[in-house]
Amino acid sequence: MRSLILFDLHYQDNNPLSRRQLDRIVETEGDFDSVILGGDNAELSSGLQNHKVLFERLKTRFDCPAGFITGNHELWGKLANLSSWRLINEIFPDLGKEYGFVHLEQRNLNVGDVSFVGTYGHFDYSFLRQNKGVSMDELLKGIFVTEGKEITWKDRLNMDWEGKRDEEVCAKLIKAFDERIKTSTGKSISISHTIPRLSLNGWPDSPAQYFMEVYSGSNLIGDVLEAHGGEYHFCGHTHAKARDKIGRTRVINLGSDYNILRYAIFQKNDRKCSVEESEVVIS
Ligand SMILES: [Fe+2]
Ligand SMILES: [Fe+2]
Repeated sequence: MRSLILFDLHYQDNNPLSRRQLDRIVETEGDFDSVILGGDNAELSSGLQNHKVLFERLKTRFDCPAGFITGNHELWGKLANLSSWRLINEIFPDLGKEYGFVHLEQRNLNVGDVSFVGTYGHFDYSFLRQNKGVSMDELLKGIFVTEGKEITWKDRLNMDWEGKRDEEVCAKLIKAFDERIKTSTGKSISISHTIPRLSLNGWPDSPAQYFMEVYSGSNLIGDVLEAHGGEYHFCGHTHAKARDKIGRTRVINLGSDYNILRYAIFQKNDRKCSVEESEVVIS
């Protein structure tokens, strides 16, 4: 079983660099038994055109079972007059059905004896470090001033969870993820867009990071892995590479970035699992 795992492609059909990145992905050699997209797959666009081009090209090239989760950029509903809740529960699952991609937020993708289990994850402020100069008030506004510069976290501005607090959204998504991992029929290999522990953030400490890192994930994901994690968990979102072990699970933040494609090939032969990571600078 050989699976291609991609995160943070942020595909944009009108951007030549982004098109070259996709060209490079479809040139990846060898046969694959599954393709997994870990969120921030494409930028929101009119009629989800960016997503349609991405899904179509991947499906045509790889012609194998495929699964995906969304990332935060795909849930900026206010830009499209849609709630984030509708995007994750209706719009993206429907798009997945149209293009043959299983939306892992709804069900697992079983390939051979492996079950891919996934969630977007979201954030719940559990990564807030005390006494680092960042307040809940600033986090809820999504605006922070440090070293004379204003930083804005756009999730706070562009997401619309129909009145639900971030903590509620996060708990709901991760409870369902926990259920899917516990009831998976195969050996679970899991993915989340946001990170399961702060150790997976990948950036050095700084005043700006103390603010931004709070939006990078939730300890609830880490708790699920500690209790029920499989051999590997993949995440992304921070665009910085990191690795850690949670319980018995090896966790890999692939760290893919706008002009640096970082992907993994997961393989399972008999009982042995392995992961090969690659990096391609797109220019
Ligand atoms: Fe991203
Ligand atoms: Fe992201």
